[in-house]
Amino acid sequence: MSAKKTVRSGIVGAGFSASFHHEAIRKVHGVNVEVQGVYALHRAEEYAKARGIPVMSSLEDLIERCDVLHVCTTASSHEEVAVKILRAGRFAIVEKPLTGYFGDGTDSFHGDRFPRQTALDHALASIERMLEAERASTGKILYAENWIYAPAIQKEREIIEKTGAQILWIHAEEAHSGSHAKTYAYWKYSGGGVMIGKGCHPLTAALYLKAVEGRARGGKPIKPAEVSARVHALTRMPGFRDEGHIRCDYYDIDDFSMMHVVFEDGTVADVFASDIILGGIHNWLEVAANNHRTICNINPNNAMQTYNPVEANFKDIYVVEKIGTKQGWSFPSPEEDWFTGYPQEIEAFYRAVAYGDPAESDSRLAADAISTIYSAYVSAERSGSAVPVRTF
Ligand SMILES: NC(=O)c1ccc[n+]([C@@H]2O[C@H](COP(=O)([O-])OP(=O)(O)OC[C@H]3O[C@@H](n4cnc5c(N)ncnc54)[C@H](O)[C@@H]3O)[C@@H](O)[C@H]2O)c1
Repeated sequence: MSAKKTVRSGIVGAGFSASFHHEAIRKVHGVNVEVQGVYALHRAEEYAKARGIPVMSSLEDLIERCDVLHVCTTASSHEEVAVKILRAGRFAIVEKPLTGYFGDGTDSFHGDRFPRQTALDHALASIERMLEAERASTGKILYAENWIYAPAIQKEREIIEKTGAQILWIHAEEAHSGSHAKTYAYWKYSGGGVMIGKGCHPLTAALYLKAVEGRARGGKPIKPAEVSARVHALTRMPGFRDEGHIRCDYYDIDDFSMMHVVFEDGTVADVFASDIILGGIHNWLEVAANNHRTICNINPNNAMQTYNPVEANFKDIYVVEKIGTKQGWSFPSPEEDWFTGYPQEIEAFYRAVAYGDPAESDSRLAADAISTIYSAYVSAERSGSAVPVRTF
C-alpha cells in the first residue's frame, strides 16, 4: 500500500461550524492532516487555544501555508473568502449556503422590502463568479453539505444505483426551534431566512438523489426545472404568543417555508424548513420510488431510546441537538456527528485534495441548490406561482 499523503489545512471562522469541522478533521484516517491555524474576525484566540493551534493575523498568511481551507464563516463572506482561496490555487471547503444575496449594503436594508428578482439576479451572479474562480484555479470548491454524506442518504444512493429506481416524489424537512447564531436573524448576513438557512439541506439532498438516479440510468443528472414556494414569518406575526420555547428575535427573515420542485423528467420534491418545531432537531427525507420506498431519519433516529424520570439526572449528559428537555422518553444519538454525515464529508474532501477522488458534493450541486432557493423566493413573492430554475 502506498504511503498516506499529508495535507496542510486551515480554518476560517471560529464559531459553531468551525468547531464541528475541527472535530471531523481529527477523525480523518485516509490522509495525514496538519492543521496550520485559524483565522477569524471574532473568537479566534479562544478557538485556537482550545485546540492547540496557532492564530493567523491575516487570511492571506493562512492561505499561504495550506493546501485546503475550511470556509466556516458567516454566509455573506463565503464568496469573498472562497475566491481568495481559489485564486491562490488552493481547495476551499465551503459551508452551506454556498453564496446568496446579502442586501444592498445600506443601513436601511430590510429583508421584507426588496424585489426578490434582485436577490435571484445577484445570487446567480455570485455563483458565476465563484464557478469562474474555480475554473481558473488548480483548487476546487468542496461544498460542505453534510446531508449528502449522511449514511442514510448514501445508503439510499446505493439502492437507487443498484435497482435503477425512478424517484417519483421526495419529501423532506429540516426544522428545529431556532438557530443559535445572532447573525442568523438578519437577511444581510444569512442571505435569507429559514428557506435558505435550513431548506438548503433537504433540498440539496433531493437534487443529489435525482442526479444519482439520472446518472445511474441515463448517464446524466436529472435537474430541477421549476419551483413553487411559500414563506411565512410566524414568530414575527403581531399575534405570536411567546412562551420561551421558540427563538423569536428575527429581524427580517422567514421562519417557515415550503418549496415544491418539479424536475425536468416531471417528477417532484416537496421540501419544508422551519424554525418553529419543538422536541429537538427534525431532519428527515422520504423517497417514493417506482420500486421502493425509503425513509431516511437523519435526526432524530431510534438507534437508542431512553426513559429518564428525573431531568436533573441527565444534567451532564448530551442527548441530542436542540432537545428542550431530557426528562421522559428521548432518542439520544450515540454518534450524532456520524448520523449527520460530518466525519464522512470531511474524510471525502481530504481524499479529494490528496488523491483527486471525485467529491459527491461539489460546486455544481451547490449552484443548483442556491439557484433553486432564490427562484423559490421569487415564487413566494408571487404567492407560489411556478418559477423556472436555471441550472449549472
Ligand atoms: N452544515 C451545518 O450543519 C451547519 C450548521 C451551522 C452553521 N453552518 C454554516 O456555517 C457558517 C458559519 O455559521 P456558524 O454557525 O459557525 O456562525 P458563527 O457566528 O458561530 O461563527 C462565524 C465565524 O466566522 C467569522 N467570520 C465572519 N466573517 C468572516 C470573514 N469575512 N473572515 C473571517 N472570519 C469571519 C466570525 O468571526 C466567527 O468566528 C454559515 O454559513 C452557516 O450556514 C452549517
